[in-house]
Amino acid sequence: MPDAEQPRSVAEVREGLGEAGYLADESSALVSFLAQRLGKPVLVEGPAGVGKTELAKALSRHTGRPLIRLQCYEGLDEAKALYEWNYRKQLLRIQAEAGGEAEPPEGSWEATRGDIFSEEFLFTRPLLEAISAEMPVVLLIDEIDKTDQEFEAMLLEVLSDFQISIPELGVIEARTRPLVLLTSNNSRELTEALKRRCLYLWLDYPSVERELEIVRLHTPELDEGLARRMVEVVHMVRQLDLKKPPSIAESIDWARTLLLVGAEDLDRETFEQSMSIIVKHRSDIDLVAERVAVKLGDATPPAGAAGQTQA
Ligand SMILES: Nc1ncnc2c1ncn2[C@@H]1O[C@H](COP(=O)(O)OP(=O)(O)O)[C@@H](O)[C@H]1O
Ligand SMILES: [Mg+2]
Repeated sequence: MPDAEQPRSVAEVREGLGEAGYLADESSALVSFLAQRLGKPVLVEGPAGVGKTELAKALSRHTGRPLIRLQCYEGLDEAKALYEWNYRKQLLRIQAEAGGEAEPPEGSWEATRGDIFSEEFLFTRPLLEAISAEMPVVLLIDEIDKTDQEFEAMLLEVLSDFQISIPELGVIEARTRPLVLLTSNNSRELTEALKRRCLYLWLDYPSVERELEIVRLHTPELDEGLARRMVEVVHMVRQLDLKKPPSIAESIDWARTLLLVGAEDLDRETFEQSMSIIVKHRSDIDLVAERVAVKLGDATPPAGAAGQTQA
């Protein structure tokens, strides 16, 4: 899609995302459409591994806008998110201009000062980079729930005004408006103020049919019957009360594994050998072995029966 062009319909966005390798459901497509038309940021929440980050990447591929990513973590501050002065370079310039003299000539400090607080001496971090980009970008602020509320407040300012003020330089206003996606794994409640500014998208584990489509997109070589059976088992596992239920990411990994080991069916033996791909806690493994493995049956059913549970 050429950049200046806004999408005309939700269907167009959905199709475009599909071409970019992302199978969007109705609400993801709608929110992606509105974000572009209304120029509002999107907050995407949901469990790990359901396609939050990938949505931003797919939007970047689909719109042709470069992706700028700010990966959040505990303790992330303005110096790593907005900008930072390059002290080392500033120091070198001061030394060079002083020319080794103990007493620099009158008025020279003012000149040096103006010089070293210019863009040349600035490290631009993702937020400033997104704001000052010549071409409109997709800005992904990933896992915002890992930062603290102070950081959120700073972010609010950037997201509401689309400008960043640097005391020594002045205000840098956005040349183009970035398409902003924030993701959260829901590890803490985000502030109302942030939510108010954003469109909201809740991404959950998909239905069997949708997940099957996604798995097939990533591993088209895997037999369809086997893929379906695998996705059904993943859904069975998700119903248990696990510490960490398997996500789409794990389904895809499992599909790749089954393909690599040349599995023909998902019988008990294959399951037990490969279940560590989808369950990754000791206690979860025990529970899954007890509740799910026993249901799968030992023998490989005759050809053609794949995808059916035993009578
Ligand atoms: N709707 C989808 N279409 C295609 N691939 C998807 C979809 N949802 C998830 N995936 C795949 O699942 C994996 C995990 O997605 P990711 O975006 O990293 O999850 P999250 O950011 O929610 O933790 C990625 O490999 C991604 O390609
Ligand atoms: Mg992610």
